[in-house]
Amino acid sequence: MKSVISPLDLSVEEINELMELGSEIKARPEKYSHACDGKILATLFYEPSTRTRLSFEAAMLHLGGKTLGFATADSSSATKGETVADTIKVISKFADICAMRHPKEGAPQVAAANSTIPVINAGDGGHHHPTQTLTDLFTIKSLKGRLDNLVVGFCGDLKFGRTVHSLIRALINYPNVRFIFISPKELRIPDYIRNDWLLRNDIPFEEVTKLEEILPTLDILYMTRVQRERFFNEEDYVRLKDFYILDKKKMDLAREDMLVLHPLPRVNEISVEVDKDPRAVYFEQVEYGMYIRMALILKLLEINVE
Ligand code: CP
Repeated sequence: MKSVISPLDLSVEEINELMELGSEIKARPEKYSHACDGKILATLFYEPSTRTRLSFEAAMLHLGGKTLGFATADSSSATKGETVADTIKVISKFADICAMRHPKEGAPQVAAANSTIPVINAGDGGHHHPTQTLTDLFTIKSLKGRLDNLVVGFCGDLKFGRTVHSLIRALINYPNVRFIFISPKELRIPDYIRNDWLLRNDIPFEEVTKLEEILPTLDILYMTRVQRERFFNEEDYVRLKDFYILDKKKMDLAREDMLVLHPLPRVNEISVEVDKDPRAVYFEQVEYGMYIRMALILKLLEINVE
């Protein structure tokens, strides 16, 4: 029984297998519609979510399984002081697999260590969000045709954005990927990413402040929201929240084949006028997320559909 807590828990080969299976499910959903008959997915969300929780639940329902769980910590016995370790021991009696989101970094790891069912990290604090990473990789691979030889720009809150951290970690494994980090100086990537992942492995990267200057060089632009919930004070959040707004005028500077991804939710950082641009793929990205989660559930439950 395997859990998925960080992008490192899956090898490049395993990710390729998941993307192949995700493509097959997307093309022939009816073939998989009873693959999880009799199986139950628990969604334990101690922090708000729209996409990830409902995408996991939709994934299990489309596979013929059932779901149970809670959407807020305050509707669970966490409010009475129950630990994550005890909660997962209980949930292991009810469900076959679990997706957990928690504001504390490392909480899904604690759950996995105390679980008899696979635990999938659905986001832990500012740490990791591996199924968003699978979603992002699957979207890029499907729409761009490759995961190597890319110039990838990450823009916005690169300090607190766990989807950014997880995607950088995963993309390091592919040849000739160059990163451009676009952020105000207060929201730059954490030192451990700069030093331990990029410099130590000779991965090419630049850190810049102005989006307009580097837009024409990008294959992928990964926009992110400034993470209000992780700021220590409201004043800094208000000062930085609208630092970048991608609009039609800026999109005119970008290449015709550049893709704009965003893990969503969006606040102000992408103007709604950009949604109509064919390069804006963030709503397609959501759909890829459901199919790759279907593939991951099948893999972790060791279900093969012939
Ligand atoms: N992308 C993402 O994690 O969205 P939610 O917070 O709505 O789950």
